[in-house]
Amino acid sequence: MSMAVPLFDLNYDEREEKAVLEVFKRKWLSIGPECDSFEQEFSRAIKAPFALSLANCTAALHLAMLLLNIGEGDEVILPSLTFVATANAVRYVGATPVFADVTSLEDLTINPEDIERCITPNTKAIIVMHYGGHACEMHKISALAQKHSLKIIEDACHAPLAVYDDIAMGLWGDVGCFSFFSNKNLSTGEGGMIVMKDEALFDHAKLLRSHGMTTLSYQRAQGHSSGYDVVGVGYNYRMDDIHAALGRVQLEKLPADIAARKNYCTQYYERLKMEDDLILPFAHIRGSSSYYIFPCWIDGGSERRDGIRAYLKDHSIMTSMHYPPVHHFTVYKPFARDVPMTERAANGLITLPLYGHMGSEAVDYVCDKLSEALRSCPA
Ligand SMILES: Cc1ncc(COP(=O)(O)O)c(C=O)c1O
Repeated sequence: MSMAVPLFDLNYDEREEKAVLEVFKRKWLSIGPECDSFEQEFSRAIKAPFALSLANCTAALHLAMLLLNIGEGDEVILPSLTFVATANAVRYVGATPVFADVTSLEDLTINPEDIERCITPNTKAIIVMHYGGHACEMHKISALAQKHSLKIIEDACHAPLAVYDDIAMGLWGDVGCFSFFSNKNLSTGEGGMIVMKDEALFDHAKLLRSHGMTTLSYQRAQGHSSGYDVVGVGYNYRMDDIHAALGRVQLEKLPADIAARKNYCTQYYERLKMEDDLILPFAHIRGSSSYYIFPCWIDGGSERRDGIRAYLKDHSIMTSMHYPPVHHFTVYKPFARDVPMTERAANGLITLPLYGHMGSEAVDYVCDKLSEALRSCPA
C-alpha cells in the first residue's frame, strides 16, 4: 500500500465557510462581535476569568512580558526546545533569555531542577511551554516561582483544552498565551489568545492590544462612546471578526479533534513501542493533553534521523522536527547554556503526522514505513 500522509491537515468544512460568510454579510470585518463571542466561548471552555483575542501568539507573549513589567536587566528562564517566538518575546523587552534543559527524552518539557539552577537575583519570570500539549511539571514549577517570587508565563500554543489537576493550561501561571496558527489544533490561519486571572492585567492588556486607546472603533460605531483617549503606548495586536468566526467553529470542533488525536497517539504507541531504537516521549502524561504533535526520538544521531526522514519523504510521508533548539540559532548563540538533554533530544527527534481525521490506515502506513526505515538505516 502507498499513500500520501501530510504532517497536518486542516479540518475545515462548510461550517467555517458559513461562519465567514455571515461576517461578510454583517459588513464589519475588524474586531467586533465575533471577537467578543470567541473570547467568551474560549474563556468558558478553559474556565479562564479573562481572555483577550489577539493577532497571534507572538503578540500574546510580548504583551505578557509588558504586563508583568519585564524589561532590561531582568532574566527570564525558558526552554531552548521551543519555537523561537517564545525567546523573541523576551528579547523584545530587552530582557535576557536563560535556557533551561528539558527533563528527559521521555518528558520533553522544561526541567524544574534545571530551572532552579538558573535562578539568580535578576530572575524575574519563567516561561513554560507545554510541549505537544502535555503539561509541564506545574506543581514543582509553581512552588519554585512562589519561593523565589517569580512570575510564570505559559506558552500554551500546543495545549488548548489540556488540563492538569483541574486547572487548564494557560491558567497555572500569571498569563497564558495561545496560538491559532494554521497548523495548530484550533486553526484560524493567524490568531492568538491571552488569558489571565487578574482583572487589572486584563484591563492593561486591552489597552496595549489597541494603541493604548480607551475605546474600540466598533464601540464607537455602535454609539457606545463618541471619543477616545490614549493612555499608554500600545500596539495593533487585534484579531479581526473573520478570524474570530473561524475560531468559534474550530473551538466547537476541538474536543472531538483532540479525542481523535488521542486515539491515533495510542495507536502509534502500540505499534511503535517494540522498536528498540525508538523512544516514544510522553507515554506517561500529567493530566489530559491536546495531543498537538506526535514526537518520537530515534537513536543513532542526527544523520540517521535525517536519513529516516528522507526515507519517509520518499514514501510521501511528511515529518517535521520540533524544534531546532533556540540557542543554536545565530542570534541566540550568545545566550547558549549547557543543556545536554536538549542537545540529545535535538539529535534524534522527529515529528510524525497527526491530525484528527488522519484515519488508522494512515497511522499504520506511517508505522510500517518507519519500521522499514529503521531497518534500512541501521544505527
Ligand atoms: C510553542 C510556540 N510558541 C509560539 C508560537 C508563535 O505563535 P504565532 O505563530 O501565533 O505567533 C508558536 C507557533 O507556531 C509555537 O508553536
